[in-house]
Amino acid sequence: MKKIFFFVFLTICFSLSSQIYSTGTETLLPGLTANIEINGNTYITKLTLAGPSDVWLAIGFGNSEMNGTDIFMTDGNTIRDAYSEPGPSSSLVRPVPPQDSPSNESGDWNLVSNTVSSDTRTIVATRSNNTGSSNDYIFNASEGSLSIIYAFGGTSTYAWHGPNNRGATVLNVNTLGVSKNNLLSFKMYPNPVSNLLTIQLPVITEKTEVVILDLTGRLIKSKTITTNNTSLDVQKISNGIYVVRVATSDKIGVKKFIKK
Ligand code: HEM
Repeated sequence: MKKIFFFVFLTICFSLSSQIYSTGTETLLPGLTANIEINGNTYITKLTLAGPSDVWLAIGFGNSEMNGTDIFMTDGNTIRDAYSEPGPSSSLVRPVPPQDSPSNESGDWNLVSNTVSSDTRTIVATRSNNTGSSNDYIFNASEGSLSIIYAFGGTSTYAWHGPNNRGATVLNVNTLGVSKNNLLSFKMYPNPVSNLLTIQLPVITEKTEVVILDLTGRLIKSKTITTNNTSLDVQKISNGIYVVRVATSDKIGVKKFIKK
């Protein structure tokens, strides 16, 4: 029985080793492009949105209209994890700031970079593929298609985009090669674990996020650390296989453990 379990575990590890999918860089409107990369190893989605530097930019996922859509927006300074409440399209209060975390404008998104060159702003941000919130779209790490809406404003203040600066399309999601450049190595023990799982990083130079996910990518626990060594209390989580993801702003490491 143990052998079968280990074989299944190894098969899962192996089959997870090259799952990165991307829409490639798509032009949505003149001057507005987007690239969405969905990583099935790290369970992280990376969005690169580029557009005019003096206006707000936005993209929404999994829908072809504003109603009930999970939206990412930026006014050039901050990023907003928004959700457009279902309602008549004449309403001017949508998309309202995040329903799932009103006190935290960027919600589940982390800003990686915000750069301006030749009047084009490029925003790179990351988020868990599946945040566990019903207002957040679940990015599937598989080949297929992704419906999106997009828009940009007339100024950097969030207000109606006007009849032309918005639209909807369906993007193809294709397999991408694996990049080893951004891998973060760390130690994790004991494995299997019952109570305390220790994570040991080589050198820590910036705020690092440690999260535990289940095998569907659902967030179980998260902790932001600033020291090399940290322990996570896993006593209360159900027995099974989990993923630990350790991420700085530009590097990510992933390991699996068994809770018993
Ligand atoms: C900033 C606040 C926003 C306001 C006040 C607003 C307002 C409106 C209004 C009044 C309409 C109907 C008129 C029209 O067709 O243009 C509309 C449609 C639309 N908007 Fe927005 N919008 C906002 C943000 C966004 C964002 C962030 C996106 C994309 C991520 C977006 C995408 C669309 C699309 C695709 C349509 C046509 C389909 C539909 O009616 O849902 N809008 N918006």
